[in-house]
Amino acid sequence: MNAAGTPWSDPVAADHPDGAEAAGRIDTSTPHPARMYDYWIGGKQNFAADREVGDRMAEAMPGLPLLARANRAFLGRAVRYVAGQGVKQFLDLGAGLPASGNTHEIAQSVHSDAAVVYVDNDPLVTVHGRALLADEARTRVFEGDLRDPKSVLDHPDVVSLIDFEQPVAILLAAVLHFVTAEADPAGIVAAFTERLVPGSHLVISHASSDLLPVDTDRLRPIYRSSATGALRDHAEVLGFFDGFELVEPGLVQIPLWRPESEPPEDLSQYWMYAGVGAKRD
Ligand SMILES: C[S@@+](CC[C@H](N)C(=O)[O-])C[C@H]1O[C@@H](n2cnc3c(N)ncnc32)[C@H](O)[C@@H]1O
Repeated sequence: MNAAGTPWSDPVAADHPDGAEAAGRIDTSTPHPARMYDYWIGGKQNFAADREVGDRMAEAMPGLPLLARANRAFLGRAVRYVAGQGVKQFLDLGAGLPASGNTHEIAQSVHSDAAVVYVDNDPLVTVHGRALLADEARTRVFEGDLRDPKSVLDHPDVVSLIDFEQPVAILLAAVLHFVTAEADPAGIVAAFTERLVPGSHLVISHASSDLLPVDTDRLRPIYRSSATGALRDHAEVLGFFDGFELVEPGLVQIPLWRPESEPPEDLSQYWMYAGVGAKRD
C-alpha cells in the first residue's frame, strides 16, 4: 500500500507473473525519476513521496511540469518523424511509465507492423508496461540498465524483435542526464549505435547546464531520489551524435524541434535540448 492508500500492485502487478517479484523490489517511499516525471506529465502512476518531492522541485523551478510535458511532446514528434522516414524498429531506452503518446502507439499508427522494445531500470515500468502491452505482438518491455548496453542488446526481447540489418531508431529521451561521466555516456551511445545500418536514427533530449534558469545547488537538497545525474551543455550533447547527421533544425531547445504549433515566445523554462540524427551511407 502506498502512502496515498492505493495498493500499487492491484490490479496491474497482480495480473502479471513478474508482478509479485517486482513488488518486493519497488521502494515507494523514495522518490523516483520515472514516477516524478509521470506526476509532472499528469500521469497516475506515482506515490506520495514522488508527489511531495515533485511539488518541491516544481516550487524551486516552476517550469518543471511544463518542461516534462514539452519533452513528452518532442518524443512524439520525433517518433512520428523517424517512422515517416521509413523506420519500423524502435529501441526506447529509459522509456518511462506508460503515459499518453507512447512510442508504440505513435510508431504503429504510421506502420502497423512497427516493432517497439521499451527498456527501463525501474521495475514499476515493466509491471505497468506489460499489463498495457499484454495483447501486443510487436511491442515488448523489460527491466534493463542502459549503462550496460550488452545486456540490453543481448536481451531475448531485443534479439527476437529487432533486426539490426534493417534501420533502427535508438530513443534516449530525457534519460542520458541520469548517466554520470564515470559511466561513460558517449561510450554507451556508441555501443547502441555502432551496429546501426544507414537509415537508422538517434533521438536524444537532454537537460542542459547552459540553459538552466536556476542554480542546481537549489535543487540538489530537494532531489534526493534514487537517481544521480549530470547536466551537459550544447557541445557535450551534440557530441553524442557523433557519426550521425543532425536533421533540421539541429540540436535546439525542446519546443523548437519541428513544432506542430506556434512555439512559446518565452523559452526560458525549457532548459533541455532535443535533436534527431540520421545515419547516412
Ligand atoms: C524522465 S523519464 C523519461 C521517460 C521517457 N523517455 C520520456 O521522454 O517521456 C526517465 C526514465 O529513465 C529511466 N532511467 C534512468 N536511468 C536509467 C538507466 N540507467 N537505465 C534504464 N532506464 C533508466 C527512469 O526510470 C525513467 O523512467
